[in-house]
Amino acid sequence: MNLKIAPSILTADFSRLGEQVREAINAGADYIHIDVMDGYFVPPITIGPLIVAALRPIADETNTSLDVHLMIENPERSIPNFAEAGADIITVHVEACTNFDSTIQLIRSLGVRPGVTLKPKTPLSSISAILPEVDLALVMSVEPGYGGQSYIPGSTNRIARLRQILDERGLSHVELEVDGGIKAHNIAEVAAAGASVAVVGSAVYNNTSSVAGNMAALRKALG
Ligand code: DX5
Ligand code: ZN
Repeated sequence: MNLKIAPSILTADFSRLGEQVREAINAGADYIHIDVMDGYFVPPITIGPLIVAALRPIADETNTSLDVHLMIENPERSIPNFAEAGADIITVHVEACTNFDSTIQLIRSLGVRPGVTLKPKTPLSSISAILPEVDLALVMSVEPGYGGQSYIPGSTNRIARLRQILDERGLSHVELEVDGGIKAHNIAEVAAAGASVAVVGSAVYNNTSSVAGNMAALRKALG
């Protein structure tokens, strides 16, 4: 299965972040997923544009995309900073946007690929009108805010439903990304349901194996 893998740096060792990102890229990462949290939309505070800017030159070495997931209130205010810092994709939560259309247009006007995402309990219908405007739709398979959580089993049906919606509406070019709780034991299920990109955090960055070993296990699980 030609599923893209986007390691999330949230559970990486931040004392050597550049090295950890290079390890993931050298092990075949398609995107580097950067989880931005503001302490309001979700309780934790993580990272901001400075980290995107720091990782940009590393990503440029291999033309790897920086896939920025904004779990912040009023993302419109910060989008220009993330675009300036070098984000290739900026994904916003439908729950956090006051004017969704203008937010997506703002991202695109800055030369960045726009993505939309929604929490597990938010109905898919909340993003159906915006799908023709985005390049990526992200299905959260955990409640946003933390790495290392368990995949919500109902997510597979949501992935399949969104895949059906995209294909029926001639929107197959929109990448279907899935984020949260994805491991070697369930990544093939996620791919089979119609995902095009899997975000993987703690199954890539953990103390049980190397980044390369973990990435190889994910690829092996995809057959
Ligand atoms: C959670 C983040 C996810 C998370 C994935 O709010 O959006 O990207 O880091 O980590 P795992 O793969 O450990 O669930
Ligand atoms: Zn994420």
